[in-house]
Amino acid sequence: MNWSAKWITPKEPMGTVAPEFYREFACKAPLQNAKLSVTAMGVYEVMFNGSRVSNYVLAPGWTVYEKRHQYQQYDVTDMVKENNELVILVGRGWYRGPWHQLPKGVPAGVIAQLELSYADGTVEVIATNEDWQVRESVVRYSNLYHGENADARIENMPLLPVAVLDKGTDNLILQEGEIICEQERVRPRRIFTTPKGETVVDFGQEVTGYVELSLDAKAGDEVEISCAEVLDKFGNFYTENYRAAKSKFGYICRDGKQNYKPKTTFFGFRYIRLDKFPGEPALDNFTAILVCSDIKRTGYMRCGDALINRLYENVLWGQRCNFLDVPTDCPQRDERLGWTGDAQVFAKTACYNYNVYKFFRKWLGDVAADQLPTGGITNFVPAIGDKGSSAAWGDVATIMPWQMYLFYGNKEVLQRQFESMKEWCRFITEDTKDEYLWTGHGHFGDWLGLDAPSGSYKGSTREDFIASAFYANTVDILAKTAAVLGLDNTEYVQLYEKIVAKFRETFPTYTTQTEDVLALQFNLTTDPAATAAELAKRVRDAGTALQTGFVGTPYLLFVLSKHGYTELAYDLLLRQEYPGWLYPVKKGATTIWEHWDGIMENGDFWSADMNSYNHYAYGSVMGWVYEEAAGIQTVEEKPGFAQVRIAPNPDKRLGWLEASVETEHGTIFSGWYYEQEGLRYEIRTPVQAHVVLGGKEYDLQPGKYLFFE
Ligand code: BGC
Repeated sequence: MNWSAKWITPKEPMGTVAPEFYREFACKAPLQNAKLSVTAMGVYEVMFNGSRVSNYVLAPGWTVYEKRHQYQQYDVTDMVKENNELVILVGRGWYRGPWHQLPKGVPAGVIAQLELSYADGTVEVIATNEDWQVRESVVRYSNLYHGENADARIENMPLLPVAVLDKGTDNLILQEGEIICEQERVRPRRIFTTPKGETVVDFGQEVTGYVELSLDAKAGDEVEISCAEVLDKFGNFYTENYRAAKSKFGYICRDGKQNYKPKTTFFGFRYIRLDKFPGEPALDNFTAILVCSDIKRTGYMRCGDALINRLYENVLWGQRCNFLDVPTDCPQRDERLGWTGDAQVFAKTACYNYNVYKFFRKWLGDVAADQLPTGGITNFVPAIGDKGSSAAWGDVATIMPWQMYLFYGNKEVLQRQFESMKEWCRFITEDTKDEYLWTGHGHFGDWLGLDAPSGSYKGSTREDFIASAFYANTVDILAKTAAVLGLDNTEYVQLYEKIVAKFRETFPTYTTQTEDVLALQFNLTTDPAATAAELAKRVRDAGTALQTGFVGTPYLLFVLSKHGYTELAYDLLLRQEYPGWLYPVKKGATTIWEHWDGIMENGDFWSADMNSYNHYAYGSVMGWVYEEAAGIQTVEEKPGFAQVRIAPNPDKRLGWLEASVETEHGTIFSGWYYEQEGLRYEIRTPVQAHVVLGGKEYDLQPGKYLFFE
């Protein structure tokens, strides 16, 4: 787009106050159409003649701004009147957020261009420039981690001059991802007083977003709210695990009935504490609003086990709570970063649950944009200055595009990412100490593995082992990608063979659950049956429990069921004690925890520091439920469910299970039910299906089917 608009900022800095840029203009009717393009250094809200122009919140979202700064385009034809008022409020957002490495004192900025096309063929452009003005807004303080303070008494503040910034438009790109918007409203479950005497509202569900207040108050009445995910073992409000993120919302009332919700921030919370509140609070005063990227639900699962159903709900909530323009590790503490490893391990499950093509495609654009000159992939994206690369984290560069191709069947994502994928491979090839492996580099290891030596976050799996195994996988994906794109892949096929040979020579035996898992998952073992038996033994010896961390856990159940240990995979899934997926569910979790024992058996916390209650990574187990329990699988030769393989693995303990996935070709359904006379299977497929039931194979045409066993 052709920008005649300029970036503007308040001429005099406004301190912590969010500025409101202002322009009045008249419109000489009749108008044919009006298009507004806008973005900000910060997060913005546009009011046009008193109404919001879109339901987009926290626009323009978060990207590698230096290279890819999204702008949004709104059709405002129906909003234009004879005399018009355009107001753009700008909060600090990610651009001027606490993590951002920009020099201190970067001002609030906005750029906007309104194109009015008249019926007579002329076009008038209202663009930000020195003619605009600016004033203080109701938002007195705005910060993504610390929260927002608003004063509703503020109205029609004096209009002040703006200054034009020396800043270009070359890095502006049209909105690429899903928009962020309000998705769901949660009514509180109860209001109560804690043993410490705090007044607390419980929403019954962990949510990412904010609270809307509905009050009848006097001007000057004050509300002050703090956020928490959990209560401590005494039932008191607990905020330590937010670390430096203050997560507070302050509001000063005007007179009369009023509603207010923060405009420039978000929180991760289930509980709020009323630090100040006028009068007696009632449930109707509060609504929690889920705010996240507008991803459409495509996957459904239900079974005969209430705890597994709740686990599934927790995974869905965990996904929505952390898919806020960037796939974040967690939505609450002073982090909320696009950690590449977390996104990598969850990518498959994410695809089953929701259509995430547009969401991930946009973020992968940022992964490539932040790729280091060496080819290294940063540990989180946007990298905001980070320069590290770790195995399994950086491998998001190859694993995610390939996953998207398998699931959505669109080669475009492979084409777009191919350069970045190759660069990641080059980085490893050049970085390693030993050719055909990846050695001599520090990594996150099997992060949070339970076999970690005391005092360490890293499981005992050898880091060179993990790094070399993922190297093999990345090169394998590259070879397949080159073939899909119709390119010569000999180089990668040969490299892959050499890596596998060297790996086998260097690592002839395995020492941990995660080592067994990776050797099986990436086809590195020469004796899969023996490795699977070894893994099964290790799991049983640990008390039928996993010891794997971020790296091993996502593949653990897959390799067990693929190699004849389905019952053991279910044992792990159904385990209700620590460590296992159902332990947090039994402890009342409503999202997925970072640690299996975030709250320990005796009610103590795992730690005050690294202890998030909304970390989707271990939610990756739902990929197994869709793909192995229900058996709905992609076919590599016919990606995007142009064909499907359905190979369910029933287990009596669940009684029954149903799952479906909406694809471009229609809805695929797989259900199994234990009945008095035996097993009944139901299959519905809109495409050709290769079906495996109880060891028998069938090639089915599109249709609905019943089978008995
Ligand atoms: C994050 C993780 C992330 C890890 C890297 C943590 O602080 O919350 O989820 O992957 O760091 O080791």
